[in-house]
Amino acid sequence: MYTTKNPGRLSGRHRRQASSHRLAVYISKHPVSPKAAKLPGRLVPSDDVPDGHQSKNPSHSMHNERARAMNDVNLKADMLQAMRRLAKSVTIISTSNGSERFAMAATAVDSLSTEPPSLLICVNKTASPHAALATGADFCVNILGVEQQDLAHLCSGAIKGEARFDRGNWLTSAGGIPYLGDAQSAILCRQDGHFSYGTHTVFIGRILQIHTSDAITPLVYLDGSYTTTAKPAPSFAAAG
Ligand SMILES: Cc1cc2nc3c(=O)[nH]c(=O)nc-3n(C[C@H](O)[C@H](O)[C@H](O)COP(=O)(O)O)c2cc1C
Repeated sequence: MYTTKNPGRLSGRHRRQASSHRLAVYISKHPVSPKAAKLPGRLVPSDDVPDGHQSKNPSHSMHNERARAMNDVNLKADMLQAMRRLAKSVTIISTSNGSERFAMAATAVDSLSTEPPSLLICVNKTASPHAALATGADFCVNILGVEQQDLAHLCSGAIKGEARFDRGNWLTSAGGIPYLGDAQSAILCRQDGHFSYGTHTVFIGRILQIHTSDAITPLVYLDGSYTTTAKPAPSFAAAG
């Protein structure tokens, strides 16, 4: 346990936790200003003051900037630790620009709405499929099975470009999008919008067609490693 009253006595992780806790309390008391919220990737606590009331002292704003940057650094480290505890099914996002195919391992994928059936994917702007997606290319979200770990490895940087399609049962949709014939589920989407946020772009996919296998043994990424889901203990109630 740690106390937030005397963080000076704390060391290492507990001091960071105390500092994050104080920041969370601060943010809850100081909602993000609309002005700050407009900054992509920088939802900062609203210590902005109304226009015309800013300090004229440049060292104050430099101090605020530095404090914000340090908060972001601490939050990034804490966020990465938190995300290690978020189990995610591993997918391969596949797409094409008409002449080249792209495939990328991804976990930043989620359902968006069932009306209309849709999902979203978050793609780093530096990743190889990004340029094609940014020009509006349709895509497929291929949910991998536990036996397809090698494909996840290939599609996360081990090899590049078209060679990523040398392994796996790749097929092509009527719309020219590559999809994995033996994925747990291959969800073909028409791209229906995107927006940029920080290092990533969020692409919305309107689901057109789904190929699903009987198996429900997904490849899962947790705590920096691949694993899979165990059968639930009998005492666990089914959710929904
Ligand atoms: C388990 C796992 C999940 C990943 N999830 C994402 C993701 O959701 N979005 C993303 O942009 N990159 C993600 N990546 C990283 C990309 O797979 C990787 O950076 C990319 O394929 C390599 O860049 P390249 O395609 O330009 O060679 C993930 C990597 C792994 C191993």
